[in-house]
Amino acid sequence: MLTLHEIPKLRAQLAEWRAAGLRIGLVPTMGNLHDGHIALVEAALGGADRVVTTVFVNPLQFGAGEDLDAYPRTLTQDAARLAAAGNHLLFAPSESTMYPNGRDGHTIVEVPGLSGDLCGASRPGHFRGVTTIVAKLFNLVQPDVAVFGKKDYQQLLLIRRMVADLDMPIEITGLPTVREPDGLAMSSRNGYLTAVERAQAPVLYRSLQRLAAAVAAGAEPAAAEQDAVRALREAGFEPDYVSVRRRADLAPPGRDDRGLVVLAAARLGRARLIDNLEFDRGT
Ligand code: PAJ
Repeated sequence: MLTLHEIPKLRAQLAEWRAAGLRIGLVPTMGNLHDGHIALVEAALGGADRVVTTVFVNPLQFGAGEDLDAYPRTLTQDAARLAAAGNHLLFAPSESTMYPNGRDGHTIVEVPGLSGDLCGASRPGHFRGVTTIVAKLFNLVQPDVAVFGKKDYQQLLLIRRMVADLDMPIEITGLPTVREPDGLAMSSRNGYLTAVERAQAPVLYRSLQRLAAAVAAGAEPAAAEQDAVRALREAGFEPDYVSVRRRADLAPPGRDDRGLVVLAAARLGRARLIDNLEFDRGT
């Protein structure tokens, strides 16, 4: 596997592959790779001839007082995992490579509306940072296909919107969330949990499962959301939101909408955990 840190070298390698008619897949990450990330790489390998995985802890998507400095940086182990998975190229740029004009001097890509909802409401500017870096990575790599996880459901929808709005000729694949055996969604931030918090953490997914079953069977979403918030508080979480939305666009569901998703964010100790579950009403 090739590991590159600079843009000209990345472009040169990609030009070679493209000239050979090879189909290119992209997996953007912030590193500290776990099985969820590796599942994206494996899916990309299934749909492309060459796979580029990027590792960049993007400062633009962290708010003041968030965990930018604490975020785990494990590039040596990440490179080993990627090589073992069959990834072809690891691109791990420095901050000055990605933001030569500084964090505040860079052109911004922002999807309106949805960027300020749910996670965007509690993390102002977060999604603008995400769409800006993903747009840059798309322009650098110009992949045929890019793979993202449904773990970050709102992020996936925003990227689909950005690609549609800006006419980017890139196929976006969204993959199911990879979970620990007890149901906890894998996340680089799970490492912030103490042993006691880790034992409590699966309550988040279980409360989403309970809510989805209730709403699928006809319960009012608002009442079910309140029940879930209460259960999370009792289990030691500080819930940020639990919200039932329409799957297609994350709008509040109308009476006749059947394809739904429940999304939640909650703090547990030092960690802010997010999770979601797709379900159909009336089943
Ligand atoms: P990161 O949190 O490292 O996640 C990289 C990709 O892995 C995202 O598409 C995310 O949805 C996916 N992922 C994370 N945990 C997963 C799990 N348990 N199962 C399946 N997929 C999972 O998301 C980001 O980085 C950044 O915002 C990024 C898109 C790289 C932009 O900086």
